[in-house]
Amino acid sequence: MRIDILTVLPDLLKSPFEVSIMKRAQEKGLTEIHIHNIRDYSTHKNKNVDDYQYGGGAGMVMSIEPIARLIDKLKSERDYSEIIYMTPDGEVLDQGIANELSLKGNLMILCGHYKGVDERVRIKYITKEISIGSYVLSGGELAAAVLVDSVVRLLPGVLNDETSALTDSFQDNLLSPPVFTRPPEFEGMKVPDVLLSGDFKKIEEYREQEAYRRTKERRPDLLGEE
Ligand code: ADE
Repeated sequence: MRIDILTVLPDLLKSPFEVSIMKRAQEKGLTEIHIHNIRDYSTHKNKNVDDYQYGGGAGMVMSIEPIARLIDKLKSERDYSEIIYMTPDGEVLDQGIANELSLKGNLMILCGHYKGVDERVRIKYITKEISIGSYVLSGGELAAAVLVDSVVRLLPGVLNDETSALTDSFQDNLLSPPVFTRPPEFEGMKVPDVLLSGDFKKIEEYREQEAYRRTKERRPDLLGEE
């Protein structure tokens, strides 16, 4: 899967993909992440990418021309399954959306800034609008990094232990059970005996119970309760 991210702040998106799992996914050739500076597609002499909004009001609006130039160029080079706009008024990202996107072909992601993009960009090009939560960030870049991470880690071969994404929180609408590692006792706090028992059936039962208990306590909404 190839992912193209369109931004006015490319520096903000460099490091998230240059470490750990995102870096390894690219090194293994399982994904390609390309970051494009929208400013490079401005024809203004001082490389403007925004303008005052019609009708007045505070805040600048991202202009359609440079964005259209960049999107048209990318679309002429390959097919994209989705052209996604990161925006607080989009569909709220969850594990289901991440799963769906991980099964698609190439993705293009547009990061908004200022008051957002000219509405005609959304009408003409955008196929999906995603929010990462009910709060407003300074721009879509950090939201795009969250989205890409949630999708790329699901691509086959990205995680070392293929089953580990399957046991993530939310994968079956349950939170993950508590986990422990050595030492077996720390300042009087013991690891539950069952996890040291070697009885895999009992361990599995314990984990299922704990996942359910934790979900009921912290996120009853995931169980259809309030
Ligand atoms: N841009 C600004 N805030 C955002 C949010 N919460 N989600 C996605 N994109 C955004």
